[in-house]
Amino acid sequence: MPTTAPEVHRGLAGVVVDTTGISTVIPETNSLTYRGYPVQDLAAHRSFEEVAYLLWHGELPDGAQLREFRARERALRPLDRTTAELLAKLPETCHPMDVLRTAVSFFGAEDPTEDDGRPASGLAKSLTLLAKLPTVVAADQRRRRGLAPIAPDPDLGHAENFFHMCFGAVPAPEVVRCFEVSLVLYAEHSFNASTFTARVVTSTLSDLYSAVTAAIGALKGPLHGGANEAVMHMLEEIGDPARAADWLDDALAAKRKVMGFGHRVYKHGDSRVPIMQAALDELVALAADPGTTRLAALHAALREAVLDRKGIHPNLDYPAGLAYHLMGFDTPVFTPLFVMSRVTGWTAHITEQLAHNALIRPLASYDGPEQRPVPASA
Ligand code: ACO
Repeated sequence: MPTTAPEVHRGLAGVVVDTTGISTVIPETNSLTYRGYPVQDLAAHRSFEEVAYLLWHGELPDGAQLREFRARERALRPLDRTTAELLAKLPETCHPMDVLRTAVSFFGAEDPTEDDGRPASGLAKSLTLLAKLPTVVAADQRRRRGLAPIAPDPDLGHAENFFHMCFGAVPAPEVVRCFEVSLVLYAEHSFNASTFTARVVTSTLSDLYSAVTAAIGALKGPLHGGANEAVMHMLEEIGDPARAADWLDDALAAKRKVMGFGHRVYKHGDSRVPIMQAALDELVALAADPGTTRLAALHAALREAVLDRKGIHPNLDYPAGLAYHLMGFDTPVFTPLFVMSRVTGWTAHITEQLAHNALIRPLASYDGPEQRPVPASA
């Protein structure tokens, strides 16, 4: 009896694998909501801590809930001596994403509490990661600059404290706000590759730290979170706004992907880009120096050229990459900044996966050799 070949969905494009109540992307209207709230409104009116609470609990916190959440987050920020010493031993040749991946794996090894699958345990571990990952990222950036780490300041909010730990100072409110907007926008995006990775690991009933460690590995790649770092390398390679169009023609002729452009779900523009671009424009206006103006002109010239030649729109990584550069972060730290935010979405999905778990195990269409006898060994 002839068998029809099963339909293959390479890259799972267009395949719906489960339901989620955490966020939804509506490509037709270029919109994104977290727990029903438009992300633009959250970015404009709410802090990253409030958004983290929303993703984990399903509702925005009231005043008392937010105060308690903030107090717990501030108390969890410091790293213990063993973790700090371990991270300081990692070679400086390794990527900051490797440091973060190792840190999460180590937090898991150190955590004596059982991963019993209860939402309360998951939330406690998630808050620990939210609080400690910025301390790891800041210490690592300083170490690579030959500087001693700066201890977290419990009197500062999440974003302000991160700048304090990286640079020893809190910048202008516009800069902190731009950073906070990026954290809100990066926090969650449905079944993207890293979130799906976290859900696959969780579906085997493995632990939260293993799922987040795996998700960090998935985010590192330049087709996903690694693109924000790649955007900056690309802008540096082009160097001059007048070269943008020619550089693009050469890149497309060489079948190179232009980093920070295109998206698996949005085909008419990423809903997060206008908000991030507006925050970036504020940073450029604030800096008002010739180098920044030139970089912004190059950024705009490449965006126009890609739209003109390929009709492809920028994704969030395009404005976020340049914004992080203007904030003073080292380029290899950009994707770890994404992790500091997306860890909220990953852990919300881990909790949701456990609430109605089914082992994620797709099928494949075999195209290897026909069955054949094993030859006698020589
Ligand atoms: N540069 C050049 N061409 C592109 C780009 C790009 N950035 N994105 C898509 N295309 C082209 C492809 O070459 C392809 O053209 P073809 O049909 O002539 O072969 C067509 O558009 C469709 O592209 P696919 O790669 O099939 O689209 P897919 O949905 O699989 O890819 C992806 C999405 C991986 C994000 C892709 O657009 C890409 O590689 N972009 C660059 C990396 C990037 O910015 N990643 C960040 C994603 S968003 C995030 O993580 C926050």
